Amino acid sequence: MDLLTSSIELILKYQDKSGAYVASPNFPTYHYCWLRDGSFIAYSMDLSGQFESSDRFYRWVGQVVNRYAGKVDVLAAQLKQGKKPDNNGILNTRFTLDGVEEGDNGWGNFQVDGYGSWLWGLAEHVKLSGDASILVDLVQPIETTIQYLKLVWKLPNYDCWEEHPNYLHPYSLATTYGGLAAMLELQNSGALRISDLGIPALLSEIKAFLKQNGTYQSTFTKHILPSADGKSYLPDAKSGVDASLLGLAVPYAAFDLNDPTVQNTILAIEKNLWFSGGGVFRYKADVYYGGGQWVLLAGWLGWHFTLTGELEKAKKLQAWIESVASQTGDLPEQVSEHLLAPSKEAYWVKEWGPVATPLLWSHAMYIILSKNIQRASK
Ligand code: BGC
Repeated sequence: MDLLTSSIELILKYQDKSGAYVASPNFPTYHYCWLRDGSFIAYSMDLSGQFESSDRFYRWVGQVVNRYAGKVDVLAAQLKQGKKPDNNGILNTRFTLDGVEEGDNGWGNFQVDGYGSWLWGLAEHVKLSGDASILVDLVQPIETTIQYLKLVWKLPNYDCWEEHPNYLHPYSLATTYGGLAAMLELQNSGALRISDLGIPALLSEIKAFLKQNGTYQSTFTKHILPSADGKSYLPDAKSGVDASLLGLAVPYAAFDLNDPTVQNTILAIEKNLWFSGGGVFRYKADVYYGGGQWVLLAGWLGWHFTLTGELEKAKKLQAWIESVASQTGDLPEQVSEHLLAPSKEAYWVKEWGPVATPLLWSHAMYIILSKNIQRASK
């Protein structure tokens, strides 16, 4: 069986009866469903015509958001009183497969990006399946999520690698932009009936914020540093480029593919993070499992290239992913070759066991890349 077919089957196999996608079935720390991973996994199912699978995932998200919707009122009150948000007001980044928070066990749960991602993915689900009926059932969680994003988008929170909670992150801001823009489009088309939540003004504000605070020398920065009083912001130039910045254009379209700042950022990713003939590092200072080459980022960069007409590069990345699949067709989170910080690998293996394999998000990005290569080759 080819890797595309087996990847689709693998995702269907590990989707829980609740609709949740486990991040990795063989890695205890990842026995949860993240909205971030899940939205890309659902998108890969939509591209594969597996609409029932993605439908079940989005309904699962809807239930989770409804379950914790009361937190958004708590958050609003906390912010009004000038308090720092705590777990009583924060919607978590990951949930058990039954859709429950696991309590405050020290995990950095304040990660905004998954909430923009699921809105973006839901809109793609409607477009690709041609069925908007799910929007009627999910009006409530959609509104709750928009209200939540309005409150949190400008607050420091953990990035998509679950690090650096004292900063803001252009990637996370782009997810908010992409999710809100997708909901606005559905609202304008009449498919989504939500109250007027002021999305157009917010979109302009986020974009202006990114331009002003998230770029340095015409390249997007990994972080944005808030001042101590939280009233001003500075681009953080010293941490270098991060591969998650791919998301600013693909898929969240906060900026166009031909925007010079996007193009400079992609060039920096290619130059600094794409290992020649191999995969893609997250960022230069990565130490997690020694800082290996990430399969999902190889898929993501390849996806970008299919949209810029650089098909040969996309195919190279696809071939590399195929070369690192195990004999049983499993894709890991990262490949531990040419590590950026080899001395740090043993610590993580001892802590959490071997690298998460299979990682459903890796399979999803391989599917997305392969489907885009098929489309671009026609
Ligand atoms: C990654 C996250 C991901 C999670 C589950 C973490 O190590 O940094 O981006 O959502 O694993 O796959």
